[in-house]
Parts: sequence; structure tokens; C-alpha cells
Amino acid sequence: MAAKKKTQKKIQNKAQKKTRKKTRAPLKKSVQASALPPMKPAVFPLEKLGPLRPLVGVWEGQKGDDIAPDDSREGIENNKFRERIEFVPIIPVDNHEQKLFGLRYKTTVWRLTESDPFHEEVGYWLWDPKEKQVMKSFIVPRGIVVLAGGTVEPSAQEFNLSADAGSSTYGICSNLFLDREFKTVRYELNVKLTAGEFRYFEDTQMKIPGRADLFHHTDENALRRSKAL
Ligand code: HEM
Repeated sequence: MAAKKKTQKKIQNKAQKKTRKKTRAPLKKSVQASALPPMKPAVFPLEKLGPLRPLVGVWEGQKGDDIAPDDSREGIENNKFRERIEFVPIIPVDNHEQKLFGLRYKTTVWRLTESDPFHEEVGYWLWDPKEKQVMKSFIVPRGIVVLAGGTVEPSAQEFNLSADAGSSTYGICSNLFLDREFKTVRYELNVKLTAGEFRYFEDTQMKIPGRADLFHHTDENALRRSKAL
């Protein structure tokens, strides 16, 4: 009986070694590229980014204008700001039949009079050429996640994206506190890319208990490319 077990073990070990050998085989070049986050922008014909093509690079602007709830929650505060945004091409994405081309982005915002930033976002802007969809998916580190989208022509120089809380496609999630006190119910973004300038206007609409109307927390800026990648 013991001898039988020993032989079984030997067979098992042999099989395991074989599998390990297989998995230790050098990875194909294409697998290596997608398994590690690229230090450099992904290389592919940038025209594939469709309407997002002009965004590649680093942008800076000093004309930022923000309207936000003030400390009392009854009034508004107005912040003038400067901003730096980086857009870096990512490895094209395959969702089975769906192919997406995109940019990883990071924005940082400073009040004109201060040296410490007061707002930032990280995320991705994506282009689905087949369905002509532009998407902006991002996190505001207050604990809000947004996936905004819209139908856009490949050569469009202006487009609109939106997201609604409760939608299972282009939606918004807020943390428990914000969901109760400052619930973002809709997000709208207008983008204009003309004559070397990137302009945006966004309207973050939130429900604040005690206020009958929705609060329109708006932000806009006009930026110029300071670095091409
Ligand atoms: C350039 C873009 C933005 C700037 C400069 C900005 C700035 C601000 C400021 C100054 C406040 C007031 C509270 C405070 O003083 O910290 C605020 C509140 C808030 N923001 Fe933004 N924001 C921006 C974009 C967004 C976006 C895109 C969202 C969500 C999609 C968002 C969601 C909120 C929420 C929920 C609050 C309420 C919390 C509170 O007033 O404490 N913000 N934001």
C-alpha cells in the first residue's frame, strides 16, 4: 500500500515539475509588454485616438474658475486657479470585440495665490471608434468615482460627456458621507480643442439637504500645451 502511495507521489511530482517548466518558459514579447506598466507612453499610431489625439502631452492654464459650496453650505465660494494636466497614451485595450484607445491623465489644481494644490484627479480618457464613444473615467479623492461618456465624431473639435448617479453605464458613485450631504447626481463636461487650446467647462450637480435646488459646482479653464510627449 505504502509503495503504491510512493509511486503516485512520484508521478504527481513529475507532472508538477513539467508544469513549472512550462510556466518558466520566457514570455512572448507581446505578453511582456502588457504585463508591466509602461514607463514610457505606449507606442501606436496616435491617429487611433480619434477626437482625443490633440490631447496627448502636458497642458497648463492659469484661467481656472471654480464655483463651489462655501463653508456654511448656503452660499458659494469662487476660486481662481492654475492647473497642470498630463495625458499619456496607454496600451490599447481589448474587451473581446471592443477595442479602446486611451490616455491616462492626472490633473493638479492650485489657487492662484497658494503653492499647495487644493484639487486633483486621476483617470483615463477612452475612445471607442466602433461605437463613437468618448469616455472619461476618473476619481476625485474626496471619494467620488465618475464614468462619463458621450457620442462623438472622430474629427470633432468640440464634444459633450455626461454621467448620472444611478445609471449602470455612465454613472457616479459617492462615499457614504457625500451621498448623504453632497450627493453628485449629474456630471456634465464640455470640451473644446481648437487652435492649440484645450478649454473645458464642467458642471457637477449636487443635492445638499436643506436646499430646494441642485447646487451647480462649476469649473472651467483654458490650457495650452507646455510639453509634447
Ligand atoms: C477643477 C475641478 C474642481 C475644483 C477646483 C474643485 C474644488 C472644490 C472646492 C473648493 C470645494 C469646496 C470645499 C472645499 O473648500 O474643499 C469642492 C467641493 C466639492 N467638490 Fe469639487 N472641485 C472640482 C471638481 C469636482 C468634480 C469633478 C467633482 C465630482 C464629480 C467634485 C465634487 C465635489 C463635491 C461633492 C464637493 C462637496 C464637498 C464639500 O463642499 O466639502 N468636484 N470642490
